[in-house]
Amino acid sequence: MDRSHYFHNSYRHPVCRSWHSSSSLKDTNLILPIFVTNTPDQKSEIASMPGNFHYGYDRVVEELRPLIERTGPRLRAIMLFGVLQPHEKEIKGNSFKNSPVIPALERLKSAYGQKLLLCVDICLCGYTTHGHCGVLLEDGTINLAESQSQLAEMSVLFAQHGADVIAPSDMMDGRVFYIKEALLQKQIFIPILSYSSKFKSSFYGPFRDAANSAPAFGDRAAYQLPSASRELAIRAALRDIEEGADFVMVKPAMPYLDIIRDLKNTVQVPICCYQVSGEFAMIYHAAQAGGINLKEVVLESMQGFLRAGAQIIITYFTPSLLDWIAESY
Ligand code: PBG
Ligand code: ZN
Repeated sequence: MDRSHYFHNSYRHPVCRSWHSSSSLKDTNLILPIFVTNTPDQKSEIASMPGNFHYGYDRVVEELRPLIERTGPRLRAIMLFGVLQPHEKEIKGNSFKNSPVIPALERLKSAYGQKLLLCVDICLCGYTTHGHCGVLLEDGTINLAESQSQLAEMSVLFAQHGADVIAPSDMMDGRVFYIKEALLQKQIFIPILSYSSKFKSSFYGPFRDAANSAPAFGDRAAYQLPSASRELAIRAALRDIEEGADFVMVKPAMPYLDIIRDLKNTVQVPICCYQVSGEFAMIYHAAQAGGINLKEVVLESMQGFLRAGAQIIITYFTPSLLDWIAESY
């Protein structure tokens, strides 16, 4: 059967099920990015992203507990990013086998079970010595076949350790196909949230600091979408759905609201948008300088995402938003 005909994965979990309905902002709409390291008890604030932390894999369960076990709107979903030290990395990204995401998943799953949806970012840039999102050939261009198989293997590994949603952000052609194939082969029935319409963007600057994943040479123009292209963004989403994606994404979010709406008018799956690190930093610092009101501006940006057609919003403002949703009850 055609791979786009596998529906169940996309609504088995209660959080995923809510993504199929549209309404005002709820806790299930929000995904909080979390950065984990192999220094078990680490907790250190990320300089480029105030209020965000590097957590060691032994620390993350307790650090999130107040957000997960509060009454009223609570943290329902996270996106896990593994952060390695330079000496832990390897040229083909094989160090994903030693990712701090693996012990973090095990601990979070056994502590919270179905209460917290565990999404994992799938990409090689945090694991390769050169910081590119795929395996490279000797001339520095992408080795597509090896990239696809690494990403598929990484997806299966993270799924076997407790991931609820596989979210590939690498932008390698065909990766959703190979990831879906590998999961189905192993009878792993979890959804794929594809970073389908991901643009090459300077708004990722603060994140690359946080993830220690900036490319050592060149940029990501060979695989991330040209920011002026509406057509590629739509084609990428359609392609990824055909390859087996259950949800698609537009990233960054605020400069690309038109693309969210284009996808809303084109595809029949829930749409995610990622309010990325540079968008976070821009709002945070403008508010710090007294130029804008943080709460009002963040809530207005959420209204924009919902209005454009997104049901799933990845944002570093999630903890504050949970408070603000509670106040509006
Ligand atoms: C890794 C990845 C990036 C982001 C999410 N996953 C960085 C990049 O593509 O360079 C950006 C997130 C953010 O800026 O908040 N592929
Ligand atoms: Zn990457």
